[in-house]
Amino acid sequence: MSIRLGDIAPDFEQDSSTGRIRFHEWLGNGWGVLFSHPADFTPVCTTELGLTARLKEQFALRGVKVIALSVDPVESHLRWITDINETQNTEVNFPIIADADRKVSTLYDLIHPNANDTLTVRSLFIIDPHKKVRLTITYPASTGRNFDEILRVIDSLQLTDTHKVATPGNWKDGDEVVIVPSLKDEAEIRQRFPLGYRAVKPYLRLTPQPNR
Ligand code: BEZ
Repeated sequence: MSIRLGDIAPDFEQDSSTGRIRFHEWLGNGWGVLFSHPADFTPVCTTELGLTARLKEQFALRGVKVIALSVDPVESHLRWITDINETQNTEVNFPIIADADRKVSTLYDLIHPNANDTLTVRSLFIIDPHKKVRLTITYPASTGRNFDEILRVIDSLQLTDTHKVATPGNWKDGDEVVIVPSLKDEAEIRQRFPLGYRAVKPYLRLTPQPNR
C-alpha cells in the first residue's frame, strides 16, 4: 500500500549495516529521513550516500536521523560502504537497511514493477517526531536526488510547525515567509509578527521569517 502524507510511518524490524533496527525505537523522539536506492555498487547511489554522509552535521543541526535502504544483504552493504568512503571523501555514518526479503520495501511500496521488477525506487520519506510522514518523493533511477532540497523542506516543516506561516516557492531559510490565510486577527498578527507584514493581496501577506 502506498504511504500518504499524515500517515504514521510503518514500524518494522530489519537487519542493517549497523545491526538490527527496530525502526520506531531507532527514530526515538526526533525527526527521521528514510530513503531507498536501487542497488549497492551503482554509481548514482554511491554519490547520493556519500553526499548524505557529508551532510551529517546539517542533519544533526536539525535533529534528524538518516537511514538508507536497498534490497541487498548486509555483507554487500558493508563492502560497498568501503567503496563509498574511499571514493566520496567521507565516512558513511548512518545505517543502510538490508531489505533482502523486501519486508520494508513492501511496507513502504518501494518496488514499482512498471519501472523495475526487483530494484527499489529512489524514494524518500521525511518523518516527524510524532512518526507522521511529512514528505514523500520518488525519483527515477537515473536521477540522483538533491539533498539540499531535503534540508530545505525540513527547515520549512520545522518553521511552519511552530509559527503560523507557510514558505513560498523556492524559499530558503532566512527568506520572507507568508502568513497563513486562516490567521485574520490583526492583534494576533502584530503579536506574532512584530516586524509587520506587507499585503500584496489580502491572501498573500509576506513577513520576515519569525524565528530569525
Ligand atoms: C545508479 O545508482 O547509478 C543507478 C541505479 C539503477 C539504475 C541506474 C543507475
